[in-house]
Amino acid sequence: MSYRTHNLGELRKENIGETVTLSGWIDTKRDLGGLTFIDLRDREGVTQIVFDIDVAEKNIVETAQKLKNESVIKIKGLIRERYSKNMNIPTGEIEIFATELEILNHAEVLPFQVSGSENVSESMRLKYRYLDMRRSQLLNNLKMRHKMIMSIRNYMDKEGFLDVDTPILTKSTPEGARDFLVPSRISQGEFYALPQSPQLFKQLLMIGGIEKYYQIAKCFRDEDLRADRQPEFTQLDLEMSFVEQEDILNLVEGLAKKVFEDVTGENPNYSFPRMSYDEAMTRYGSDKPDTRFEVELKDLTEIMKTTKFEAFKKWAVGKGAVKCVVAPNGSEKFSRKIISEYEEYVKVYFGAKGLAYIKVTEDGINSPLSKFFSEEEMKTIVETSGAKVGDIILIIADNKKIVHNSLGAIRLKIAEDFNLIDKNEFKFLWIIDFPMFEYSEEENRYQAQHHPFTAIKAEHMEAFMGGEMEKILTISHDLILNGSEIGGGSLRIFDPKIQERVFEKLGLSFEEAREKFGFFIDAFKYGAPPHGGLAFGIDRWLMVMLKESSIRDVIPFPKTNKGQCLMTEAPGNVAVEQLEELSLKVALEVKEENK
Ligand code: AMO
Ligand code: AMP
Repeated sequence: MSYRTHNLGELRKENIGETVTLSGWIDTKRDLGGLTFIDLRDREGVTQIVFDIDVAEKNIVETAQKLKNESVIKIKGLIRERYSKNMNIPTGEIEIFATELEILNHAEVLPFQVSGSENVSESMRLKYRYLDMRRSQLLNNLKMRHKMIMSIRNYMDKEGFLDVDTPILTKSTPEGARDFLVPSRISQGEFYALPQSPQLFKQLLMIGGIEKYYQIAKCFRDEDLRADRQPEFTQLDLEMSFVEQEDILNLVEGLAKKVFEDVTGENPNYSFPRMSYDEAMTRYGSDKPDTRFEVELKDLTEIMKTTKFEAFKKWAVGKGAVKCVVAPNGSEKFSRKIISEYEEYVKVYFGAKGLAYIKVTEDGINSPLSKFFSEEEMKTIVETSGAKVGDIILIIADNKKIVHNSLGAIRLKIAEDFNLIDKNEFKFLWIIDFPMFEYSEEENRYQAQHHPFTAIKAEHMEAFMGGEMEKILTISHDLILNGSEIGGGSLRIFDPKIQERVFEKLGLSFEEAREKFGFFIDAFKYGAPPHGGLAFGIDRWLMVMLKESSIRDVIPFPKTNKGQCLMTEAPGNVAVEQLEELSLKVALEVKEENK
């Protein structure tokens, strides 16, 4: 007989009286003397099987009694109406009285319980990912991932996009992270780089006349990992020819809505407001603001230019800024202990020098800064901040980057700690007009804020060609969902003269640019259409959509924050012979350190 006539989620009252064959895993088992109940589970659900001494042969009932959870069995039996119905599951009105039993695979004692809601450490779940996958949460997330990808493919196909794949063994691509390198055996001493994204290839596809390209692409970036970053992740990458930015945004908004609808089953009428990078930084201290709650940064720099308080004045009159956020009803909630926690947080993570506060209470102002400000000044500060009685104002003076990063993070911390976010809400936001260049203090030079192929706004072209690097804005767009950057892209440069100028401004000599991107620059000499696109981080988007807090919970086989796969134990050592074939040697000190 075949393994199954039905899956374990589909039998209903209408099937009563039928004889069926079913296969699956033993989810739970209860023995009541001559009666053994087994909840048999597969991907689609759970069905109750009964081994009854009055129906089945004795040896079958005895075998069933000995079975261990998660063993795989096949049974044949008759469907009957269930005596005590379980309306919590779709198959809860019926049960199968088994007359045949075949054990397909015995399970040993498990490292953790698959059924039920036992809390299992993440490292165990990652080590035994195939067991974790049998649990409903991960299984459900993988089903959602499938739905999402089907939805994307349908939409892109309807819109006339070709799915074209691009190589994994390739040359370095410029997304700004470190590359993963793969040594070549045939060309000794040379390396492939794994793609940080298909960026160069998709632009070459446009030059090749593909016009509309998409791909569900694996990307590899050797960077510090966080809750929303993996070294290997999946993009929906897309590129279009003969388009303006508006065409790309329209296409992507349609896609975002459709995917949302297909995955969540909701019919959301989401809007996609747009905000410039500059406005986002000024109002939220972040280029991916969470706009589900109100708290915004307020600028105190002007007021502080004339103050006696040197710690603030020096930033206000110099190149820095003094800004604040208000925690609504925070003046009581912010005990000394909480204030110092917040201060520690911005000092440790963002290098802030301190965190000053002003409590606005029924009895007046309560602040360590009182002695530095006149009553009049204090009044202006409170008015500018927008604080009301009962609120607390949190202030940081520093260079702009530290002020924005710190207050942007404090804003989120306030929202989290004081429950200001409606977790059922989803808010999209486009951030546009990113600067072309940003100055890297560490490297003492300008870098491309996105990548060096991003088109410059027409109105800034003259300034750029004239040598200006500050305030050169690009035709770029990031899509933010609930404060998470789920996608990013731009129109691209398609004039080789401008492209060379960008390389030059980034400090790449003609020779260096040729060595790295010669094939790419050349291609633009043979007829390049205007083009642009975007890439979604599929994992990140799904994580936000499913309200998961870790990207690992939506990836079948993810890596830890240290970039390890706990199941396969990658990365691992390789045989000396393998290294010799590649003419490679591992420095001994490194080996010892890794032990
Ligand atoms: P970008 O570098 O912004 O753009 O990447 C696009 C999106 O990919 C996601 N993402 C990540 N997800 C998980 N782990 C990571 N380490 C990680 N890094 C990025 C983010 C991000 O918005 N080639 C350009 C796109 C373009 O210009 O068309 C690119 O890769 O959600
Ligand atoms: P001080 O006079 O240095 O003890 O500082 C008085 C208060 O101002 C303390 O609460 C400090 O945390 C705070 N403070 C000092 N420097 C800064 C700064 N650059 N930004 C914000 N607060 C600061």
